[in-house]
Amino acid sequence: MRINWFPGHMNKARKEIAEAMDEIDMVIEVLDARLPMSSQNPMIKDLRNATPVLKLLNKQDLADPVHTQEWVDYFNQQEHVQAISIDAGNKKLIAKIPDIAKKMAPIRIRNDRPVRVMIMGIPNVGKSTMINALVGRRIAKVGNEPAVTKRQARYTLANGLILSDTPGMLWPKIEDHDSGFRLATSGAIRDTALEYQTVALYAAEFMLKKYPQRMLERYKLQALPSTDLEMLKIIGSKRGGLRAGGKIDLHKASEVMIHDIRSGKLGLITYETVAEWQIKFEEAKQQLIDAQIEREAEQSEQNLIDAERSQRDAQRQAYKTQNAIDDEQREREENEKKANAFDSNNRGDQ
Ligand code: G4P
Repeated sequence: MRINWFPGHMNKARKEIAEAMDEIDMVIEVLDARLPMSSQNPMIKDLRNATPVLKLLNKQDLADPVHTQEWVDYFNQQEHVQAISIDAGNKKLIAKIPDIAKKMAPIRIRNDRPVRVMIMGIPNVGKSTMINALVGRRIAKVGNEPAVTKRQARYTLANGLILSDTPGMLWPKIEDHDSGFRLATSGAIRDTALEYQTVALYAAEFMLKKYPQRMLERYKLQALPSTDLEMLKIIGSKRGGLRAGGKIDLHKASEVMIHDIRSGKLGLITYETVAEWQIKFEEAKQQLIDAQIEREAEQSEQNLIDAERSQRDAQRQAYKTQNAIDDEQREREENEKKANAFDSNNRGDQ
């Protein structure tokens, strides 16, 4: 699924964030623990360079804890990165964030300066909830548009942190098909931006494959249906989507299922695992290698063609030169013959 999100304003937002990046000591990046890789904004990675980042895998209360731990371990292996899993209801853990942040900017602390933190995250990931918890009061939401019209909001926290909020941006193009659907299922992409039913069909397929038992239990099924569409029809028929004449309202069915997933009624769900992404990265790496090999093969084939062509040109040139020499030789011999004939004629006359 390729989604163009903010085609017009993205460059401006990018520039503003790049500028702001020069004035901060660290980034807090709020991710969705159910889809940590898909909810990362690659722009942040590009722009932050060596600025340390604390990744908060938020909404851990909705994610499969085993996979959440795998993701935390995965991110913690990266340079300049620290990761913890968290949820908005976990006040104790949230209270630890300022100390973790301060440890990630030790020079500022040594110089008795406040740590300047930029908090980032895509829409609906729980960034405002997190800021509320850190600031200790309800703040106005910066919104989900890029930083075009609104200035960054800043909050000075009691514990030596200055927090600047950025808009909850998605990146301009979501290239990865699965990431697009996962973001849509989680609610990061506004429902109006996408065909609801298409997202629900993707979600149904995912649930049937990864969490079949939950589907059986939640929708009180004797057996699993064989297709995602069949699944939606069953949900519709059981949950208020049955219309006159036995027709199923698929939009209603989609709403029910997506709501059940988002609210945790289908249990703790992780949409993507470290292992799946590692396979994806390996495949992408292999594709790059294959493309490079193909380019090199094309190049050496071209080199061969060029070499053959210049060999032919050289042969043609040698042939021409030889012809010219032969012609010259012939002409010389002719002339000599003519000269000899002339001489003997002259001698005869005497
Ligand atoms: P944003 O600024 O990143 O766009 O997200 P925001 O904080 O507005 O949170 C988006 C939704 O996610 C909110 O629900 C919020 O309550 C919920 N949320 C945030 N953190 C957590 C968490 O750790 N666990 C769970 N389960 N939910 C979380 P909402 O229904 O859109 O709004 P509201 O009715 O809660 O106000």
